[in-house]
Amino acid sequence: VSIEKFIENIPKTELHLHIEGTFEPELMFEIAKRNQKKIPFNSVAELKSAYKFNNLQEFLDIYYAGANVLIKEQDFYDLTWAYLTKVHEQNVVHVEIFFDPQTHTDRGVSFDTVIKGIHSALEDGKERLGITYKLIMSFLRHLDEASAFKTLEQSLPYKDWISGVGLDSSEVGNPPSKFEEVFKKSRKEGFLTVAHAGEEGPATYIWEALELLQVTRIDHGNRCLEDNKLVKQLASSQMPLTLCPLSNLELKVVSNLKEHPIVKMMAENLLVTVNSDDPAYFGGYMNENYIGIANALDLSKEQIAELVKNSFIASWLPKQEKEKRI
Ligand code: HPA
Ligand code: ZN
Repeated sequence: VSIEKFIENIPKTELHLHIEGTFEPELMFEIAKRNQKKIPFNSVAELKSAYKFNNLQEFLDIYYAGANVLIKEQDFYDLTWAYLTKVHEQNVVHVEIFFDPQTHTDRGVSFDTVIKGIHSALEDGKERLGITYKLIMSFLRHLDEASAFKTLEQSLPYKDWISGVGLDSSEVGNPPSKFEEVFKKSRKEGFLTVAHAGEEGPATYIWEALELLQVTRIDHGNRCLEDNKLVKQLASSQMPLTLCPLSNLELKVVSNLKEHPIVKMMAENLLVTVNSDDPAYFGGYMNENYIGIANALDLSKEQIAELVKNSFIASWLPKQEKEKRI
């Protein structure tokens, strides 16, 4: 079979996905209309043409604006359900997804509304599509630690529905150290931890995520390659990195997919995984990400299979579940 068919057919898991980043323009217009919210674009085509970014911040500005039309529990359900049906068609069997509570609570939408909508869609996805899941609550790093603490408080009644906490949004100037205390409290409450680090920020942010936040995975981590000692540490501990090739291309973290560091990272024995990040904004879900790097970097089926296996290893599935799928 062709490499494309091989990628499409192999059962996959996704570990780095922002549910707000799956908001397709068509659904955005539909939900805006029923909530009588205005979008500053006249059509789906006009909105899509605004998806041209020079860096992370230009993307985030549009991503937060899009999320503004999400108001009701049903909106969060529909958003999550659309993602699940989409990845089901792509043979994704397990997902560990982020949501950004503060993006919604800061607009007056309650934490309950957001999590109930997302959780019921995830449960339906498990039952009707056979997709298992973990949910990760991500703190916005451009806000202060007090706001993250408030969010952590709000999440406690829903602890059973949330497996971990993460850290996303504008990276440079907002190092992991800013959130050391709230991550400590989160771990004490039983949450696993991950953090975006080394996407635009320096390798020192990756060190901080490891040492101060005690993460179980690094989201992105591209810039680890600038620090040999860090590469050695990540390789020897088999710390997973959740890479997002099309995101890196669209946010100009790499100038061309042929320059994507994934092969170099595999050669360094790093536990790298392929993910879509914000597929509605970056032009592709899981299969498109795999196919993009496979074609640009001339990857073999063995290399694809290894990447897929890495994701199951890096997942938070219980050991026996993992072994079944590797
Ligand atoms: N980086 C930081 N924050 C984000 C991203 C990202 O790639 N996607 C959504 N929020
Ligand atoms: Zn991300």
